[in-house]
Amino acid sequence: MPGALENKIAIVTGASRGIGAATARLFAQESATVVLASRSEKRLQAIADDINRGLKQRRALAVPTDVSKEDQVRRLFETTKASFGCVDILVNNAAVVEVRDFVDMDLQTWEETMAVNVRGAFLCAREAFRQMIAAGKGGAIINMTSLSGVRGPEKFPGLSAYVVSKYGVLGLSDILAVEGKPYNIRVNSIAPGAVDTAMLKKAAPFLSTKIKPDDIAKTILFFADEKQSAHISGANIEIFSNES
Ligand SMILES: NC(=O)c1ccc[n+]([C@@H]2O[C@H](COP(=O)([O-])OP(=O)(O)OC[C@H]3O[C@@H](n4cnc5c(N)ncnc54)[C@H](OP(=O)(O)O)[C@@H]3O)[C@@H](O)[C@H]2O)c1
Repeated sequence: MPGALENKIAIVTGASRGIGAATARLFAQESATVVLASRSEKRLQAIADDINRGLKQRRALAVPTDVSKEDQVRRLFETTKASFGCVDILVNNAAVVEVRDFVDMDLQTWEETMAVNVRGAFLCAREAFRQMIAAGKGGAIINMTSLSGVRGPEKFPGLSAYVVSKYGVLGLSDILAVEGKPYNIRVNSIAPGAVDTAMLKKAAPFLSTKIKPDDIAKTILFFADEKQSAHISGANIEIFSNES
């Protein structure tokens, strides 16, 4: 049975663990060809190998990439195009977090957080736009922001750089939805609260959650699958835990 993403080529950044790895696995199960990107070559390759073994098909490719580096992002998209064709779906998921009281915030931490979380999302989205526009068949971009990056939900001390970066990702989604409209490029974002990953343990170890990476991957699939969300662009889904 063909899956929901049959004949689609997807790039998932930050796919070596957590939400990105769960998304790459789900997309491959749904028949997509998936290009996995993150810095750690070994972990990334292990996930891609595992997906291919499970499917008994070579449908996952690991391309080690630091998304904050323009030349590496360009290479990621060129490799994708040369291997499979123009990208149809981009999941801008890679991110870093550092916990520092604001009075101790150093420039390096601030700049690195922005470089990965905001510049990385910009660079990947720009390459995706270029390929999608050239191919003329539209596409879907899903940006991972956070409840840290929307007005209202409680914020936690020490996360100033992360919070600002995630507001930036939400702004990027808003404007890309506008600029993508003439080309049928749908751009949406997802703002989870606590999800059970390495990032949560580092950023907010005092939070417990029943929300798993697989749960978020299903929401990402909703935005990636044009049959489910064909007319939705510029939306942000906030995911609050319903546990007491
Ligand atoms: N977990 C939560 O509670 C939560 C809540 C709200 C939003 N989010 C968002 O969800 C997304 C995924 O988070 P997660 O919890 O799954 O985090 P995670 O487990 O820490 O995974 C982060 C991923 O990003 C990759 N990465 C980091 N720096 C990179 C870089 N410079 N270039 C390429 N890849 C890079 C990491 O791989 P390498 O180290 O191999 O590069 C890893 O695969 C993030 O955007 C995060 O902000 C998470």
